Parts: sequence; C-alpha cells; structure tokens
Amino acid sequence: MTPVLLDCDPGHDDAVALIYAARHLDLRAITTVFGNQSLEHVTRNALSLCRLVQLDIPVAAGADRPLVAQPIHGGTIHGKTGLDGAELPEPDRAPADMHAVELILRTARAHRGELVIAATGALTNVALALATEPRLKDWLRGITIMGGTTGIGNVTEIAEFNIYADPEAADRVLRAGVPAWLVGLDVTRRVGVTAADIASLRGGGVLARTMADLLDFFLASLQRVHGLSTASLHDPCALVPFIDPSLIEYRQCCVQVSLDPGLTRGVTVADLRRLRNVQLGQIRPTGPANVHLAREPSPALVPHILAAIREVDARLT
Ligand code: RIB
Ligand code: CA
Repeated sequence: MTPVLLDCDPGHDDAVALIYAARHLDLRAITTVFGNQSLEHVTRNALSLCRLVQLDIPVAAGADRPLVAQPIHGGTIHGKTGLDGAELPEPDRAPADMHAVELILRTARAHRGELVIAATGALTNVALALATEPRLKDWLRGITIMGGTTGIGNVTEIAEFNIYADPEAADRVLRAGVPAWLVGLDVTRRVGVTAADIASLRGGGVLARTMADLLDFFLASLQRVHGLSTASLHDPCALVPFIDPSLIEYRQCCVQVSLDPGLTRGVTVADLRRLRNVQLGQIRPTGPANVHLAREPSPALVPHILAAIREVDARLT
C-alpha cells in the first residue's frame, strides 16, 4: 500500500478523504492548514476524526495563514467549526509537538521515494516544506492535489478555494518539479452524493451515521449557496490515482497559477491545446507539462467512496 501524508483543512470532504485514505492507503500522518476554518478549528477536527476512525497516527498543525496574503476561511460552507452538522468525539490527544513542516519532512525521510502527499487544502504547508528542505522533492514519490479548475470556480467566478487561499504557495508547488496530480473543481463537482446516497449510510454504525449527518449539512450548504443538488466529494478525488487510476482519467499538461491581483487572482491556467510541432508564429507555445490533470471521473467513483465509508465503519462496529 502507498504511504500517504494527508495535508488537509477538515472540512466535510476532507473527512471523507481521510476515511478513503484509511481504507485504501497506508495513511502515515496528517497535517493541517488554515482554510475551511481557522487552523485551531481544523486541527481539532482532524483529531476528532482520528478518534472517530480509531486512527493512531501523528497530527501536526501547520500554517494559520498564507505565504503573503491575508487568510480566508470557508465557514460559509463548512460552518463555524469547519465541520458542523454532527456530534463529533472530543479529541483524546493534543497535536504533535512539532510544526506540520517538520512532520512532513520526517515522514518523507522515513519513506524516501515512496511517500505521496495528498493535499486537500491550501498548499502553504507543502510550499514551506519544499522551501525548508529542497531535498524533499527527491524524497517524494509525488504530490496529489485537490485544487484549481479549468472552468467554473467556487470562491470566485473562475478560481477554486484551495488555490485561491494561497496562490503563491500553489505556484511554488507546481513549479517545484515534484511529480504532481491535480484534480480540479471542473471534475470534482461531478463527483457528488445525493440525499439518497447519504441516507443509505444511516443503516451503519456510529461512523457511517456521523458521516451521514456531516454530509447532510454539507449538501444543505451547497444547495443554499450554489444551488447544487449533490454534495461534491472534492477531496477524496485527489487520492484516486493511488487507489484505482481507472476511476478518474488524467492527462499531462502545463498548469500555471495567476498571481495577479483582482479578477484572475488564484486562477489555474491549464494548457489543454494539442499544438502541432510547427511554426507557431504569434501563437504562444505550450509550457512544459508539470501535472497530471484530472479530466473525466468514472460513474463508479461515488459508489467506490461510499463503499469505503461502509467498510471502515464495519471494521469499527
Ligand atoms: O474548493 C473545494 C476545496 O475547498 C475542498 O478541499 C474543500 O474542503 C475546501 O477546502
Ligand atoms: Ca479541503
């Protein structure tokens, strides 16, 4: 099984990603970053989720703000705690006595050449870790990211929350030369659970019923704010290339991040052209392919994620 470190901002869909990783991957550590709520809230949520899922792995808190901008929080969707909608167990331990960057470096050193970082929040911790220890890029097998979009946005008309929360960090990570997989909102919006899917979890144990409560809250938020009829499972999509690559089709291309102020800040610009090797004249040539970019989710993906929740729930019951 692939060793994975989950860098996240739980967050309802981060919670699903944590369970999905616990079911199918060797989840070695969790680091938290500001985003869906403050660093304090998302770190508490990560510890509560570890207790709920009976995961005895280190959790370290990281950045409480982006590299250069002011922090934004996703409370409009995820609520005051960042994980509203269910009774969660109180954390039964404190976060690790180290910064997330240190935990990322220690875990990567311990699993040299094998560790995958799954980033489902702002990329601030990952950018800081790469800046702190440049050898990290050689220690990692890859970085798989939920972020960006080639079409519709959420936090702005055309920008996705995780990238918009820290565009400078995303720019550094995508330029770092680490093998990278990127699944954007244009794909994850099509990976959603319906109210009926959520209700089907209520026949399970404590974990399944808690996830049903959380996903009901998440769906209601997305219906209220975005008029969506399903709850988008953004974050577990980032794990798919290392669980079952047949569940999302990826293609290699060049993706850049706009750091401009104003309308295009935090926009991911993917070059989806297939230019021929000819004299291009005034046409801007394609940049070097730096990511595997998600293009098409399989209809089997949502059932696969729901099955993982049921299977982890059954282990605990
Ligand atoms: O835009 C969706 C992303 O922003 C997800 O990771 C969600 O958890 C929020 O962090
Ligand atoms: Ca997230």
